Amino acid sequence: MFELPKLPYEKNELEPFISEETIDFHYGKHHQTYVTNLNNLVKWTEFEAKELEDVIKTSQGGMFNNAAQIYNHTFYWNCMAPNSGDEPYEEISELINRDFWSFENFKEKFSTSAATNFGSGWTWLVKTTEWKLEIVNTSNANTVITTDNKPLLVIDVWEHAYYVDTRNARPKYIENFWNLVNWDFVNENLNK
Ligand SMILES: [Fe+2]
Repeated sequence: MFELPKLPYEKNELEPFISEETIDFHYGKHHQTYVTNLNNLVKWTEFEAKELEDVIKTSQGGMFNNAAQIYNHTFYWNCMAPNSGDEPYEEISELINRDFWSFENFKEKFSTSAATNFGSGWTWLVKTTEWKLEIVNTSNANTVITTDNKPLLVIDVWEHAYYVDTRNARPKYIENFWNLVNWDFVNENLNK
């Protein structure tokens, strides 16, 4: 049985940037539904005993979509933390300055990529096998863990992530996101 992972904070702790109502729906309904769907799909199949990442790498169609969405959402929740401030520090800060010249420049590039990611999807900061930082967009449930790139940071740009709080204004949601980035988590991901 796959389970909905616990949120790393209370549902109202990302306010005022992301409301409790958004978390109620996004985590409590959408994320939960992917878990329920996957459990129904794997029942009595070879996938039932597999780890989530293994299901993602070996399945297609509905099973892949639900499994990848579980992973992507769990990763996304961990990318945020209450009162985290908006400046990167330690190793990730050095790599951002090396590969994007400055945090401001990186922030602008990542934000533009997220704002222009057509339709539903995810915008990632990844580490390549050559230890370069890159910004990558994926569509729908697609995830970077099916590639050689390692995920460091992600923003969910499906409408369900922001419609309650900022309606159609995805750029406003992206701007709010920078107040929540958990740079401790991003630094940890560099060495995974
Ligand atoms: Fe989502």
